[in-house]
Amino acid sequence: MTLPIVAFGNPVLRKIAKDITPDYPDLKKFIDDMWETMYSSKGVGLAAPQVNKAIRLFVMDSKQIFDNQEEEEKGTYSDEPGIRKVFINAKILELSGDEWVYNEGCLSIPKIREDVYRPDAVLIEYYNTNFEKQKELFTGLTARIIQHEYDHLEGKLFIDYLKPLRKKMLQGKLTDITKGKVKIDYKMSFSK
Ligand code: NI
Repeated sequence: MTLPIVAFGNPVLRKIAKDITPDYPDLKKFIDDMWETMYSSKGVGLAAPQVNKAIRLFVMDSKQIFDNQEEEEKGTYSDEPGIRKVFINAKILELSGDEWVYNEGCLSIPKIREDVYRPDAVLIEYYNTNFEKQKELFTGLTARIIQHEYDHLEGKLFIDYLKPLRKKMLQGKLTDITKGKVKIDYKMSFSK
């Protein structure tokens, strides 16, 4: 089942999400729905707050990007294989490496893409779907997507990284998104 994605302006996107326990109701179904929602909206990552659940869970699939011939031709990416994973109760332990810029977007903020600088590597602790604790280091675009999704659990959005003037210039577009005055081809819920 695809879930509606909450648009910028909904307070759930600004909440600090909470850890869950293995007995979280219908967890398997929820994760299936997260995948379905992410793929049907052509996203590479989706965090639970984006479907109105303030819990520490996100899914991501960076394989999609690395498998994309067009992107490969642009020479933007290395030959990293990418990952497809569910992150539960994630906690970033360390960010490292040089910061690099990438033009990011977000399913909750449609039609806006902006350059964001982030460190190259992330050391993260999380639980997999069997609730086994994992500790892994990710780099490159995979690490970037993880940082973007992780930010959603902290109530943070990629536009928060923009310089005040740049953000001011986007204000009109952001207000339109809040009010639902934006054309999108996936299911969204607007707060006003
Ligand atoms: Ni996002």
